Amino acid sequence: MQQTPHPHNHIELSIYISHAWSVHAQRHTTILSNKVLRVEQFRNRVIDLAKPSQAFLDMKMERDLHTIKGDGDSSYTKNSSIQRKAILATEPMVEKAIRGLRTDLQPRSMVVADLGCSSGANTLLFVSKVIATISEDSPTDSNIRECPMELQFFLNDLPSNDFNHTFQSLEQFKQLTAQDYARRGLQPPPHYFAAVAGSFYTELFPCSSVHLFHSSFSLMWLSQVPEHLHSNMNKGNIHIGVTTSPLAAKLYLDEFEKGFSHFLQLRCRELVPGGRMVLTILGRKNDDMIFGGGTLSSTLELLSQAMRTLIEEGRVEEEKLDTFNLPIYSPSPDELKRLVEQSHLLDIMDTQVFDLPYDPMDQNYSKPDQEGAAAADDAHEAIGRKIAAGLRAVTEPLLACHFGESIIDELFAVFACNMTRQLESGGEGRAVTVISMLLQAKVLQ
Ligand SMILES: C[S@@+](CC[C@H](N)C(=O)[O-])C[C@H]1O[C@@H](n2cnc3c(N)ncnc32)[C@H](O)[C@@H]1O
Repeated sequence: MQQTPHPHNHIELSIYISHAWSVHAQRHTTILSNKVLRVEQFRNRVIDLAKPSQAFLDMKMERDLHTIKGDGDSSYTKNSSIQRKAILATEPMVEKAIRGLRTDLQPRSMVVADLGCSSGANTLLFVSKVIATISEDSPTDSNIRECPMELQFFLNDLPSNDFNHTFQSLEQFKQLTAQDYARRGLQPPPHYFAAVAGSFYTELFPCSSVHLFHSSFSLMWLSQVPEHLHSNMNKGNIHIGVTTSPLAAKLYLDEFEKGFSHFLQLRCRELVPGGRMVLTILGRKNDDMIFGGGTLSSTLELLSQAMRTLIEEGRVEEEKLDTFNLPIYSPSPDELKRLVEQSHLLDIMDTQVFDLPYDPMDQNYSKPDQEGAAAADDAHEAIGRKIAAGLRAVTEPLLACHFGESIIDELFAVFACNMTRQLESGGEGRAVTVISMLLQAKVLQ
């Protein structure tokens, strides 16, 4: 993952530069007017920004991390049922956030942003919940109905996300929503959509402009490979594994702490005072980074094992594995709580830890005419394949960049076998642990 500038990406680089220019310009407007910064100095600063600085070199995540596009068999859209379960499980928390906002702030219109929305139906599932909650709570009095609350949705993800797929499905979504409400003699509140392409580790919105931030299954992604985690410090692993040194594991934790704290600061500036956030993160149950439950580490351990098999077969060079670390971290509830408290910017209104199971009865995991052990074996194999497809839909672009596309099919076939064997032996993997938090921005005096 260590960086060299991508020779063919001069267009993307120029976009980043123009973005950096605008952020830079925004930040310095005040300085310019207050201190009359000399034109010469200002120009020098912009020239510095145009150099391929470390900040640009570290932007590979923005270029290379995205879920598999479209709606083909291997797409994220078709392989994100566990993420869908997480959104369904946190609907009561979203309702609570919206009702609290309405009572406390009584806004005329509401601005809602889904951060790390990816493409496909999941982000629209969240959107539907917001529309339904506003609609259920709206008074039926006809005078008030003439001026209903309006909703502005911002769907955010990295620039390489398949926004087209989501935005192309919006017309149908709006039609179905209108039909569904009409059948019940209702009208959905007017709602509008816009895309915001950019990292949620950067400024995304104007100050005090958003009422509700939502993010599900996204904040475990770090903005970069942990700083100071150099090549060869985590040999044989793609993540925190059983042979990872305590130092390397600590660098992962440090990177998460730095990124999440920065994220909270950015979002609190953008929230209206008293605004809410519902954050759902793939996490673990306790502070043990390897055996802390929650499956991310054990799942990625199996992916490292699959890589090692490919090395033995001569398909992957050992050095490739030794220089790759996946920039992802699943925090514990205590780690999250501590970081929110340390921010002094937010109150924790609710925290929930869920285990979301891959249900063998779900989605034809087992064949109906089979019984007993054969059915169980089949179910394990089907879940193993399902987990492999889900992991592939999220990690393939990053893995393909480093290891090459040619190994991906075999890598995930070996991983699916490893996962099936682990499930058969009663090991972890059958459920994922998810932590959800409802946070409220403090109204600072
Ligand atoms: C597993 S998907 C979850 C998508 C969706 N929220 C859901 O629940 O189905 C994670 C998403 O987070 C996005 N993501 C990761 N890091 C991000 C960042 N720094 N800024 C914005 N989006 C990011 C990824 O591109 C990906 O689309």
